[in-house]
Amino acid sequence: MIVSTKKLFEAAYGKYAIGAYNINNLEQTMGLFRGNIDSQAPFIIQISKGARSYSDKRMLEGIIRAADEIFPEAVFAVHLDHGDEKTCYDCIASGFYSSVMIDASHESFEENIAITKRVVDAAHAKGLVVEAELGQLGGVEEHVAVDEANAKLTDPSQAQEFVERSGVDSLACAIGTSHGAFKFSGTQGLRFDVLSEIQKQLPGFPLVMHGSSSVPEEEVTRINNAGGNLQGAKGVDDNQFKRAALLGVTKINIDTDGRLVWTRVHREYFRDFPEGFDLRPVGKIFMEEYAKFIASKNVKLGSANQLTEVHKLLGK
Ligand code: G3H
Ligand code: 13P
Ligand code: ZN
Repeated sequence: MIVSTKKLFEAAYGKYAIGAYNINNLEQTMGLFRGNIDSQAPFIIQISKGARSYSDKRMLEGIIRAADEIFPEAVFAVHLDHGDEKTCYDCIASGFYSSVMIDASHESFEENIAITKRVVDAAHAKGLVVEAELGQLGGVEEHVAVDEANAKLTDPSQAQEFVERSGVDSLACAIGTSHGAFKFSGTQGLRFDVLSEIQKQLPGFPLVMHGSSSVPEEEVTRINNAGGNLQGAKGVDDNQFKRAALLGVTKINIDTDGRLVWTRVHREYFRDFPEGFDLRPVGKIFMEEYAKFIASKNVKLGSANQLTEVHKLLGK
């Protein structure tokens, strides 16, 4: 059942985080739904611009609608990930999405507010909610001087003004993570000091953590042993998700880890069966492995076994 992202945030705030998983194809979709049902978790499906144009946006919508029928117990929201203004309007008009993210974080503070407000007005008129980003993820290197590094992080003193003036419903914060498989070097990690300051400015307001894949060492080793070459890949410690949730992080975005599962399964399969060329045996393994991955992530997020509560909250 597709539900409002806002309702999922109400259920989770301050207790656990909802997993927001990016999908691009039917194998990911099947694994995603199975993993969430197996772990009894509500979830958010994220669709990026790239995912919408991978085959055709209607194809992905069709696959999700089919999964909704196959798994009637599932409770999930459909969210546009990292949208520009035009894509946000397209998703709002489609009637399929629960929420959109407008990513104008590369613009000035004033321009970010202005663009976000336009999208918020359009989305609210249709009953959708909006996520925006303040600060910028990525590129924070250990050798960069503190002030320079902090300049990319969300400035807590701007958070309240940004939310009030834009009317946005949730805020993606830059607290040290970046997208992809190479997030940290040395002793870098999540900036709980910054997160805690943001929560003080915005008590009760849902915060979002992007770039939250944990890039497990074991996964990277298996990929490299099967012909891959991922050197120095490092991610977020998922044992810290619950601490982040207590500080107001209500949505945690994970894409790269799922891509690593795909890469490991396919590399190992074709290494072990060099004579193979049927896509289904390996596709089946991927769906099973992806479902297991989702279920174990939901335990770390605290969203596992919350489905009954969420059904109650929704009055179902
Ligand atoms: O944050 C970006 C997500 O990982 C989606 O990636 O734009 O390559 O689909 P993508
Ligand atoms: P990862 O690259 O860490 O999986 O982050 C995904 C993300 O933030 C999607 O918006
Ligand atoms: Zn992101």
